[in-house]
Amino acid sequence: MKRVDDFRLRLGKKELVPIVIGGMGVDISTAELALEAARLGGVGHISDAMVNTVADRRFNAKFVKDKLRQFKFNVANTDKSVVQFDLGQLAEATKMHVGKTMEAKRGEGLIFVNCMEKLTMNAPKETLRVRMQAALNAGVDGITLAAGLHLGSFALIEDHPRFRDAKLGIIVSSLRALQLFIRKTARTNRLPDYVVIEGPLAGGHLGFGMDWAEYDLATIFAEIQAWLRAEHLDIPLIPAGGIFTGSDAVSYLENGAAAVQVATRFTVARECGLPEDVQQQYFKASEDQIEVNLISPTGYPMRMLSNSPAIGDGIRPNCEAYGYLLDANGCCSYIAAYNRELAANPGVKRLSVKDKTCLCTQMRNFDLWTCGHYTYRLKDTSRRLEDGSFLLLSAEHVFHDYQYSVDNKIALPEEVAVPA
Ligand SMILES: Cc1cc2nc3c(=O)[nH]c(=O)nc-3n(C[C@H](O)[C@H](O)[C@H](O)COP(=O)(O)O)c2cc1C
Repeated sequence: MKRVDDFRLRLGKKELVPIVIGGMGVDISTAELALEAARLGGVGHISDAMVNTVADRRFNAKFVKDKLRQFKFNVANTDKSVVQFDLGQLAEATKMHVGKTMEAKRGEGLIFVNCMEKLTMNAPKETLRVRMQAALNAGVDGITLAAGLHLGSFALIEDHPRFRDAKLGIIVSSLRALQLFIRKTARTNRLPDYVVIEGPLAGGHLGFGMDWAEYDLATIFAEIQAWLRAEHLDIPLIPAGGIFTGSDAVSYLENGAAAVQVATRFTVARECGLPEDVQQQYFKASEDQIEVNLISPTGYPMRMLSNSPAIGDGIRPNCEAYGYLLDANGCCSYIAAYNRELAANPGVKRLSVKDKTCLCTQMRNFDLWTCGHYTYRLKDTSRRLEDGSFLLLSAEHVFHDYQYSVDNKIALPEEVAVPA
């Protein structure tokens, strides 16, 4: 019986353990988590979502304060079009976050950065170009293009000296999205080095509509694999979404996957950025608490726990400090929803906005509990302690469980000695 360790992911000259820990935005996939994946010979992701905030937190910088000071005059204004990112500061924050992570890398694995196109930042092209160029300058091993079709993203970095040497990949949820991407980027004379195929059971935003349950990862994987073969294109495929055990991973590897991308199992690792009380909510979640809704202002469906504090919260938009979801015209659908409730409920101190959420503020505060479909199975991956809480795992434990387990088994962590 095969196990994940019997396979290797080949990327250029590199041979890696075929386990990729997916990017989890706003520092849920921390540098510590990504560094563990690299140390163990796999691939880890950090994310550049809200990178100014993350750099402030990690390095005691003041990027958010500076931006808020600059735009404070606009806080009460419903028109946010003047709120722009300083591109120099954005590059500096990215350099700090990515550069310090790369400096700390040990082992044979790789560290990639997850770059979401939907972070439009009131100047989509300019900010995405700066984010990717700064990450390449800071020595990142690769960039995974996420949350968007990225039809122009390769062109934004084609003049960068590392454009052909860094690993560049894209996340797609359909054959059509991949075909479009390859067609539109053909001019740059560069194919992606890997393609992550993300199915409907993943965490975060979904590349499907609210009919997500009608799709399944294995079918999309087979379609994309067949098309690439017919086109004589040899691009490593990395399925993601709902791969919960080593055996789940092996079934894809035996069918020709180059690696698997996983995330949910690592949300309860000590190295993950979620606060421990939130991790305990993930452990305790039941199946009926996992929902997919449309409250993200990106317009993509998002999966989250139904008891997430972000749902129904009506916090004032905080675009002068954050503003990552402002589109090219300075609009965000949360601002419209918030202003509608404000007008309908004059004088009410704590508003409730049910149809949209202030994604920036809620993610920043870890109050938006986005999660994968199988979060309700996390309780089977650890031990329950006497006080009813669950033991957090080490990233190494989870990684090794994927790497070495067979028979759909999940290894529990060592029992901890309870003080007498
Ligand atoms: C808490 C959480 C946050 C996530 N955030 C992002 C993100 O910011 N960008 C992204 O491309 N994918 C995101 N994902 C998707 C993962 O990177 C990964 O592809 C997917 O969840 C794998 O499926 P699994 O969680 O069932 O293992 C997130 C997943 C989780 C669980």
